[in-house]
Amino acid sequence: MADREPGYGVTARLLHWSVAVIVLLMIPAGLIMVRDGLPRALQDGLFLFHKNAGVIVMLIVAFRILWRATHPAPPLPPQIPSWQRRIAALSHLGLYVLLVVMPVTGYVRVRAGGFPIEGLDAMGIESIIPRNKPLAETASDIHQVAAFLLIGLLALHVGAALHHALIRRDGVWSRMWPIARRH
Ligand code: HEM
Repeated sequence: MADREPGYGVTARLLHWSVAVIVLLMIPAGLIMVRDGLPRALQDGLFLFHKNAGVIVMLIVAFRILWRATHPAPPLPPQIPSWQRRIAALSHLGLYVLLVVMPVTGYVRVRAGGFPIEGLDAMGIESIIPRNKPLAETASDIHQVAAFLLIGLLALHVGAALHHALIRRDGVWSRMWPIARRH
């Protein structure tokens, strides 16, 4: 029965898992690259990856929000209690908000600080933010706090997904798993 629950479409699954993979690589890269005493080449490589992958995440998330706004999520199985539905909806909203806040503050921090974003620079896309040290510092502070909120919310999200996959086995996991089941 559980396998017959309607799932997300192919595009929604692709958007979900591409953002998941990039963000799960960007978080450790971000945490490591700001540490003191790293070899210069490693730090430069991590910054290069983090900044440019972050711009890609920003574009995918913008498209994902448009997609989600026009393609509602499939209904949850009826046995899920209403308090869990509310927590799921709130945590998903929080993840979307943080997935906008993170790339935007990262972009502002780098551009207002006068630093390059190599992929955009190579395409001749200029900064839309003037150099401004206080603005760069504020963006950096928000980026840091939002990163820890995102890590907390991701832990809740992954924990809930694994709970559905391994313990409840109620079809919620397979709604989003990339390999769609045939109905
Ligand atoms: C979903 C997207 C993003 C995630 C999850 C993310 C995550 C993180 C994390 C965890 C840190 C370490 C925070 C700390 O402990 O200090 C960090 C730092 C940083 N990130 Fe991001 N980031 C994202 C997008 C971006 C983008 C788009 C850029 C720039 C184009 C960027 C530029 C930076 C910079 C420059 C730092 C160092 C901040 C500082 O020391 O002032 N990030 N990021």
